[in-house]
Amino acid sequence: MPASHVSTHVRDLRREISHHDKLYYDKAAPEITDREYDALLRELRDLEDAHPDLRASDSPTQRVAGRPLEGFRPVRHRAPMQSLENTYSLEEADAFMARVEKLLPSIALRWTIEPKVDGVALSLTYRDGLLERAATRGDGTTGDDVTQNVRTIRSIPLKLDGPVPALLEIRGEVYLPKKKFTALNAGREKEGEAPFANPRNAAAGSLKLLDAAVVARRGLDAVFYGLGAVEGRGAPETQSELLRWLEKLGLPVVPKFWEADDTQGVREAIAQLEKLRHDFAFETDGAVLKLDAFKRREQVGSTSKAPRWAMAYKYEAERARTRLNDITVQVGRTGTLTPVAELEPVPIAGSRVARATLHNEEEIARKDIRIGDWVFVEKAGEVIPAVVGVDLKARTGREKKFHLPEKCPSCGSQVSRDPDLTAVRCLNPDCPAQIRRRLEHFAARGAMDIEGLGEAMVDQLVTAGLVKALPDIYALRAEEVSALERMGEKSTTNLLAGIAGSKKQPLWRLLFGLGILHVGAAAARKLAGKFHTLEKLAAAPTAELESTEDVGAVMAQSIHDFFHAPHNQKLVESLRRHGLNFGQHDERAAPASQELAGETWVLTGTLSRPRDEIAELIRRHGGTVSGSVSKKTSYLLAGEEAGSKLEKAQSLGVSVVDEATLHGRLAP
Ligand code: IVH
Repeated sequence: MPASHVSTHVRDLRREISHHDKLYYDKAAPEITDREYDALLRELRDLEDAHPDLRASDSPTQRVAGRPLEGFRPVRHRAPMQSLENTYSLEEADAFMARVEKLLPSIALRWTIEPKVDGVALSLTYRDGLLERAATRGDGTTGDDVTQNVRTIRSIPLKLDGPVPALLEIRGEVYLPKKKFTALNAGREKEGEAPFANPRNAAAGSLKLLDAAVVARRGLDAVFYGLGAVEGRGAPETQSELLRWLEKLGLPVVPKFWEADDTQGVREAIAQLEKLRHDFAFETDGAVLKLDAFKRREQVGSTSKAPRWAMAYKYEAERARTRLNDITVQVGRTGTLTPVAELEPVPIAGSRVARATLHNEEEIARKDIRIGDWVFVEKAGEVIPAVVGVDLKARTGREKKFHLPEKCPSCGSQVSRDPDLTAVRCLNPDCPAQIRRRLEHFAARGAMDIEGLGEAMVDQLVTAGLVKALPDIYALRAEEVSALERMGEKSTTNLLAGIAGSKKQPLWRLLFGLGILHVGAAAARKLAGKFHTLEKLAAAPTAELESTEDVGAVMAQSIHDFFHAPHNQKLVESLRRHGLNFGQHDERAAPASQELAGETWVLTGTLSRPRDEIAELIRRHGGTVSGSVSKKTSYLLAGEEAGSKLEKAQSLGVSVVDEATLHGRLAP
């Protein structure tokens, strides 16, 4: 293609991608699939790679820079990021308005009312319309530079539309859409990672990840509602103008706002917002009342912490009163007994709530919750239901106090109480409830990834007595499985093939699948990478375990205890006899081949499999894997969205290859 055509095509692609970003985010009406979108993006990236002179900081390809950060640099805000005064009382909101009116006598005032977005405050700096910096609030004066992560948020324009002041600092909120939050937590629980308590925490955690590629996958979004600093002309003079202007510049703004000129009007807006807020993609915990005219705001000023011209009215968490029909007990993977409230179903914040966790026995005693009580249930952060208290006036005296049983409800063995009384555990390693949970975890996608071995199948196998311990799945016979309900010949064959196939899974998956307390998938990878074999890991002293990246004292102790418990030693031995992959016994002594001997490889970008796995593959074929590109690097294996390592390799003349090339060399 002639150079002039390339530059036109690049421009067209950028326009097209921005157009689809708008459809996706502003209108929530995408016209193309994610896959088609990715193809456009890839085409653009390839062209920019081939023609570095066409690169531009506002290109959609610049959203993910690819290089994990060491940390976040501090950024001083041009104008301080203040907080808001809060109230839960409409009378106090009225009093706030009266106070402002008194400061500005005989002036007709106008108010705006907006949703209070429950996210993480963010400040964006645009210079000549280009996104220069994104920063968190921090202490209000200095925040963290999160530009690289914020660039991954597709609804935030890298370049503003139309004439803009030379410098513009804009304030808003980053949030994780409620739907994305639910999906993220479901995934985390499957992976054995702790779920986030609410979307706000999830957004804050995501914004502080060091790897922008991971942030991009989380699906953060943002809305803007305020002005920090402006240099140059053309900024609006009222809040309502500001919101319309920001929208015209291409920034996402609060989906609805109201204007009012008296307390009556403000109260109506607050009431309307309370109903509408559940339909927003973000969580809304209140309404923000603001003086509309910026000139009037200057006249009333601020205290050291908050402006005098604005106030947040917070909605009470949604709460319902219902009957506690029963308290049941769940036995978890590690044997912990958790009391669960079985409620007369009630609708709260748009969903039906029938169960809520009661955490532990101490919590029940502290709140004096009894079976048969009328209780108040809240959706904390609108998401997780919790029993917050008892309606004592409704007590009849027939309610029953609750104690966790002395015997495990699943296997009947004596439970053990931790000295602080918060945790009660069933210590029977053969407890069917624990086996169920452990097997579900073992087979989960993030662990041994055994297709067809989900919750229902596990339940059938354990109930039928076919599986009494984890290794039993490797001894299942076709005739036993096909005799189970709803199991045809085909599903039996598939299940058994999945189970047999899992024997070859890499060591880290087995290690994670064992469900050792505190050992998540990430730590399992690090441990497998360091110790290479299960035997070495099991024999390692705690100090050596602790010297592994991401492994602390608590985890090290837990790993040590696990492998020293006789029943686990039996379990491990049995898995070994069934032929599971415990890792290379001696990496150097028994490599798969010497094809890559003497070569140093560096991996970058998104690859089809986790980097650790590919690194392992290279090592097994005699190669060395290094973390950074240098003159000594033999090959850079570059996946999608390769960033600075690719640039460095190109500048040093290091050969860049793709995964297919690697596999081609290793093919028999
Ligand atoms: S205006 C000078 N408007 O709530 C502070 N803030 O609890 C002006 N927030 O710091 C803030 N939604 O991070 C404003 N529509 C909205 C908001 C909002 C959420 C956040 C903001 C603020 C915090 C105070």
